Amino acid sequence: MGKPSDAPGQSPWGFFFLQAASSADICRAAALLAHGRLVALPSETVYGLAGNAFDPGAVGRIFQVKGRPLLDPLIVHGLHAEALTAVAHFGRAAQRLAKALWPGPLTLVLPRRSGVPGLVTAGLPTVAVRCPAHTAFRRVLGRCGFPLAAPSANPFGYLSPTRAEHVRDSLGDRLPYILDGGPCTHGVESTIVSLRDPQRPEILRPGPISPGHICEVLGQAVPVRPRTRRESPGETALEAPGTSARHYSPRKPLRLFQSATPPPGSTPATAVVLLKRPQKLANQHTYWLSESGDLREAAANVFDLLRRLDAEPSIRSLQVEQPAPDETGFGLALADRLLRAAAR
Ligand code: TXA
Ligand code: MG
Repeated sequence: MGKPSDAPGQSPWGFFFLQAASSADICRAAALLAHGRLVALPSETVYGLAGNAFDPGAVGRIFQVKGRPLLDPLIVHGLHAEALTAVAHFGRAAQRLAKALWPGPLTLVLPRRSGVPGLVTAGLPTVAVRCPAHTAFRRVLGRCGFPLAAPSANPFGYLSPTRAEHVRDSLGDRLPYILDGGPCTHGVESTIVSLRDPQRPEILRPGPISPGHICEVLGQAVPVRPRTRRESPGETALEAPGTSARHYSPRKPLRLFQSATPPPGSTPATAVVLLKRPQKLANQHTYWLSESGDLREAAANVFDLLRRLDAEPSIRSLQVEQPAPDETGFGLALADRLLRAAAR
């Protein structure tokens, strides 16, 4: 990624070294959570800002720390599907998806149970649940024995965190502890499937698990909900959470351009971000998300590179190559995040 291959923790082959958290790190995180405090935890997608899902005080602090509107509900994380049956009703389709794809980067929106604090679900009749695959997250869940509500550990609307230092940079002074598990493998958030109406499953947010994979498990077509579509004409963005057009955005202006055309209007202070390493460099601020144009690698690098460019004083604006339409999970997820980052 970028010009020099300088990302710490990344091998020359693009694979990540997994950084194991020590038992003391896990115990410290679990003890803080058991006392109602918040902890940032690594997951296989992005870092999460976790608190006890059954403690309304802890859940309230998650919204405060992120500056997140109270109408935007949280994902509840559990060690396995059984641990989440206290939170959500699992119908047949949910059971199939959970059996096939958990632990992993899949979130299910299901009818909620009454014991979940209303703050977690923003008063909706549904709750979002997921079993993360990251070893450190799972060890903390195992030690806590209660489910963890955890949004991405970034200020609301900003680029998601894929490394512990990203959390430290933007929320470090507001958190008692950040558990460092190294860079996140996927680098984009989980695929969200709504089973609010089990007859009509729908993908609310593209992620690492592709629509094709979900269709295969359920044996039926599962459409991706258009980015800004609402359930009904009067509905606001927050009543249909996750549909706000602008999200995952750097502070500097970001524009997308189509592949194969030179980016329009670039100046020496414009960073140009390509999907693939170019044959020759067009400008001093040319960066790339993958050596070979591999979309999985590009997705893993996107938030880290955009954060670095956002922090670089000599750069004023960003021009990013838009991925061509693609049906893999990573291609769809990358296109979705970039379109939202560029929305005004
Ligand atoms: O990969 C991930 O999913 C990460 C890691 C930490 O697990 N979490 C994450 O959380 O991305 P967050 O809060 O940044 O995004 C969750 C999305 C939000 O857009 C929220 O509106 C939506 O899930 N959501 C939560 N509960 C929902 C519900 N009941 N119905 C529809 N959407 C819901
Ligand atoms: Mg988020």
